[in-house]
Formats: sequence, C-alpha cells, structure tokens
Amino acid sequence: MRAKKRVVTYGKAVPPSRGATSGPAPKTRRTPTVRTIRSAIVEPRPAPPPGPASPAARPVGPPVAGPARSTVDLSVDLGRGLVLRNPILVASGTFGYGVEYADVVDIQRIGAICCKGTTLRPRQGNRPPRVTETPGGMLNSIGLQNPGVDAVLERYASQWAGWKVPVIVNVAGESIEDYVGVVRKLDLVPGIAGVELNISCPNVGKGGLQFAIDQEAAAAVTRAVRRATELPLIVKLSPNVADIRPIAAAIAAAGADALSAVNTLSGMALRADRTGPFLGNTYGGLSGPAIKPVALRIVYEVAQVVGIPVIAIGGVTGLDDVLDYLAAGAVAVQVGTAIFADPTLPVRLVDQLAAECGRRGLASYGPLIGTALPTRPNAASAKGVEYRP
Ligand SMILES: Cc1cc2nc3c(=O)[nH]c(=O)nc-3n(C[C@H](O)[C@H](O)[C@H](O)COP(=O)(O)O)c2cc1C
Repeated sequence: MRAKKRVVTYGKAVPPSRGATSGPAPKTRRTPTVRTIRSAIVEPRPAPPPGPASPAARPVGPPVAGPARSTVDLSVDLGRGLVLRNPILVASGTFGYGVEYADVVDIQRIGAICCKGTTLRPRQGNRPPRVTETPGGMLNSIGLQNPGVDAVLERYASQWAGWKVPVIVNVAGESIEDYVGVVRKLDLVPGIAGVELNISCPNVGKGGLQFAIDQEAAAAVTRAVRRATELPLIVKLSPNVADIRPIAAAIAAAGADALSAVNTLSGMALRADRTGPFLGNTYGGLSGPAIKPVALRIVYEVAQVVGIPVIAIGGVTGLDDVLDYLAAGAVAVQVGTAIFADPTLPVRLVDQLAAECGRRGLASYGPLIGTALPTRPNAASAKGVEYRP
C-alpha cells in the first residue's frame, strides 16, 4: 500500500491560536544558545508575499477558492493509534523535552515532539567542542547526553501527560537489551505517545558496527522492541549506507509502524590550524539544509519499498521543503536544526501547509503526498543510489 493511503481523513485541523505564529520570533533567554550556528544554519528564504497563501515552488495550476485553512484536515495516522493533528513534528535533539520551548511557542500546535535521545543509564555525552558551523548546516557530536530514562520519566512524563501535543520518546542504546530496557520502562506510562528508535548507535555486540547500517541488526533490534511494547514504533534510518532500501524493508518487516528518515550524515571538520580534528569526538553528524538532497533521495527510495508511513527529516527550513518531502512520498516531516535559528518555524509551517491546501482547494493534504513518485515500479533503482555522475 502506498504511504499516501495512510493519511486519515477524519478529525479536524487545529485552528490557529491567536498570536502564536505571526510576527517575528519572540526574544527569549530560553532560545538554545548554539550561537555560532545561528547565521549558518538557515539563510532565510525571501519573505512570502502578504496574505494567507504562500506560493508553492511548483504550483499545480492557478489558485482556486477552497476551504479556509482552519477547516483543512492535516491529521495523519502514523500507525497503532498514533494519530497526529498535523504532520509537522520536531526532531530529536533539537527541541529538548519540549518544556524548554513552552514559553517561546505554542508547542501544543506542533504535530508531535520527538524528545532528546534517551538511554537506559545517564550519559555525559562527548568531549567538547561538540558543535561547529558548516556551509548550509552544522556538525554535532553531542554524544547522546541525557539523564537516563528514569530521570526523564520522573521529570517530564507527568507534564507530557497533560499536553495535547503527543510526545514521542527517542530511544538509543548500545545493545538490544539497552533498547528493550528503555522501552519496557516507557510502556504504559501516561504521556508517552510513541517511541522513535535511534539506531545510529554503535552495537557493542557487533564490534561497534552501527545497528542502522547493518540490515540484520536493524531488524533484530526492531523485532525485540516490537515484542517489548505496544507503543507505536518509529524506527529512524541512517543516511550513511550505500542502499537504504533493503534496510528499510527489513525494519518494516520486523514490525515498525513507521520509519523516519534521516538521521545526520557522518562528517568531520578540522581545527583552524589544521593540526587535527575540530570536534572532541573527531566525527560529528551533519544536519541542516546541506543534507536535504540526500534525505529527499532516501525518502523517495524508501517510500517505494515499504507500506508503512515515512516521516522525512533533513534540512527543513520552509514550506517548500515540506512540500518536496510530501511529494517524494513522506506523510509527515520533522524540523530539526532550523529550530535553533527560529523556534517558531514548526508552528508557522502548520499554518502555511493549511494555507497551501486552501489555496489549492484541498480539504486535506493527502493529495500532496507521493506526487513525485514514479508510476513505474522499481524506478528508484534506475535513478537512485546507482546514479553515477
Ligand atoms: C544538536 C543535535 C542533536 C541531535 N540529537 C539527536 C538524538 O538524540 N537522537 C536522534 O535520533 N537524532 C538526533 N539528532 C538528529 C536530528 O533529529 C535530525 O535527524 C537531523 O538533525 C536532520 O534533521 P535537520 O537537518 O532538520 O536538523 C540531533 C541533531 C542535532 C543537530
């Protein structure tokens, strides 16, 4: 079944709340302090013309009178009862636990919050420096710094339980037992809407080979977590592989409800005097607009080989990116690095997507999904990773 068939057509879009998304971003001391990346992450696109509708990059025909944006159905079913009110999520590691942003934006209007990576035991993270600017993005080697699942639940779960916005806990580990251990603790806790597995972690049982780049390990950890919980299960793909399709298919067959794509690309930077690597961890993960073409290709390929929803991640900075990912077969997107420059972006994208649907006369955004996918089966294999310049 094509991903686009997964979009549900019931439910109402969330009416924009007053003052939540218009005007410049409010100044706040809670805005993340990755100051060095501010300018490099997002070169703001030209301001859209005034009015509710911002034009699509590739508009389909002239504007038509359609439903008001508050009546456009943006809801999306990610499987196992996880129905979001809109398809704009925030990516793990870029929005903390949600609470940090509660007085900056109306977080309840976001489709879902993927919280910071959570492990069985507390982690200090990697040696500094841990972030640096790159052209069109940033490199980070945070190293999954987090207080551990028990502290996360104690500090945040009761708050999350009172929120309208679903919170998806991003789970990381170094063994299948680690992942299962975390997920068992999350299972049945009020306030946890789902789990996103970060499998871009070294698997100590396989000499440090990442789960995400090893088809068998990726399927095995998915299968084990599937057995351990009834929570909706999203598995996050790594772009650092030659061919994502067999890995995505294996994860889907192992019981994932949805896939998210992609995590950061492996990269590095050198010290200014070129005497060695800049990051304390030598390697870091590249994110931001620079990775969008890679992520788009992966979403396009994955959407053609799995029958479960695909959530796109990578360099979203505006509505055009959202529309591109939907056209490539994603049913939802996550906004990550761009949040550091503008925490109001995700909520604004919700309104812009609704306005775009209204402009096109659509009652839901379903018709925008998969429009760029080939009608011919397996076309991706002719134009995907096998392409050689
Ligand atoms: C500072 C930082 C921390 C991140 N931490 C996590 C994490 O804990 N778990 C995870 O699965 N992905 C993590 N990511 C990856 C993002 O969730 C996302 O997949 C990636 O940044 C690509 O999206 P973007 O280009 O919109 O940032 C992190 C990214 C950044 C920039």
